[in-house]
Amino acid sequence: MGVEVSTHHVTKRFGSQTIWQDVSLTLPSGEVSALLGPSGTGKSVFLKSLIGLLRPEEGSILIDGTDITTCSHKELYEIRKLFGVLFQDGALFGSMDLYDNVAFPLREHTKKSESEIRKVVMEKLDLTGLIGAENKLPGEISGGMRKRAGLARALVLDPQIILVDEPDSGLDPVRTAYLSQLLIDINAQIDATILIVTHNISLARTVPDNIGMLFRRSLVMFGPREVLLTSDEPVVKQFINGRRLGPIGMSEEKDETQMAQEQAMVDAGHHDGSAEEVTTIIPQIRATPGMPERQAVGRRRERVREIMHTLPPEAQAAIQDSLDHADEYNHDYGDYDEKPDYGGDDAQTQAIPAYRDENYQSAG
Ligand SMILES: Nc1ncnc2c1ncn2[C@@H]1O[C@H](COP(=O)(O)OP(=O)(O)O)[C@@H](O)[C@H]1O
Ligand SMILES: [Mg+2]
Repeated sequence: MGVEVSTHHVTKRFGSQTIWQDVSLTLPSGEVSALLGPSGTGKSVFLKSLIGLLRPEEGSILIDGTDITTCSHKELYEIRKLFGVLFQDGALFGSMDLYDNVAFPLREHTKKSESEIRKVVMEKLDLTGLIGAENKLPGEISGGMRKRAGLARALVLDPQIILVDEPDSGLDPVRTAYLSQLLIDINAQIDATILIVTHNISLARTVPDNIGMLFRRSLVMFGPREVLLTSDEPVVKQFINGRRLGPIGMSEEKDETQMAQEQAMVDAGHHDGSAEEVTTIIPQIRATPGMPERQAVGRRRERVREIMHTLPPEAQAAIQDSLDHADEYNHDYGDYDEKPDYGGDDAQTQAIPAYRDENYQSAG
């Protein structure tokens, strides 16, 4: 099972600029969490702080019980081995083919023989749907494949914590959906603790067990997905519906005059920019049939039951509803031992098996 990651009152500054302050949250072991927030709110800085690439000015960060803000270099080096990270730009080496890119961490950090390396690399390429593309250079493949190759590379050292920074950036909605499914399937297979930094609303609504949001140098909230998805907080509602109307502006936060002007425009019948206002909670994506069940689901159910009384009424109702329907979602998939297809970028791209299963579709 993945390890727990927690931050306690952390504050990050660059010179006199405070990026965020007093951020406390816990990424529960083996669960998938997402951190949302407008561009420039310090999501990438937060992710880099979690692996000790940046050191916060205040507070502590516990990784499996070790405070990485005070531990020795040697301890930090060991702790880093628990992580697999997919940075925002994918960061593949342009002159190496996918095989060598994915093999790189193994050649750098382990004493494995080339035949052992081959076994691991092919397994991860298989998991990310890249078999057949191993001899391609990053420049010869699509953005979606590059993301998956970055993910394959993040997985080769068998990480217990996986951090992914905007995995959807540069991807179309269909490729993003495939990638969302892939993240859930990876969680089902290796039970790692996952944090996804994103501003993709569909991904945020369907993938994570827990969601948080950074805004105005603070963590607005962090908790079970139902809390944020039912929140009445104006900034949260604006963000998850992609609206112009609300506290988030084009470059900075807005002042009251601008908010009043925009409200007047909408009252006068102007469009507020969002395609739809989603008021219900969309069920979470489940692991592809044939994959192991996500172990996090049961653990989370117990965990959330315990904290339920501390949550807002709307979130409690939504959680109760999902608990009541848990059995319906737990139906037998039938015999699927087929490998999922994550949307190879060739003409033979098929729908993933989940979408061919009518029961699956109607249940969840
Ligand atoms: N190494 C750095 N030195 C100084 N400022 C930085 C550094 N890294 C990021 N920043 C600043 O921190 C802020 C948050 O950046 P970032 O984490 O990239 O935002 P996000 O990922 O949410 O879009 C930005 O204003 C950025 O300029
Ligand atoms: Mg970023």
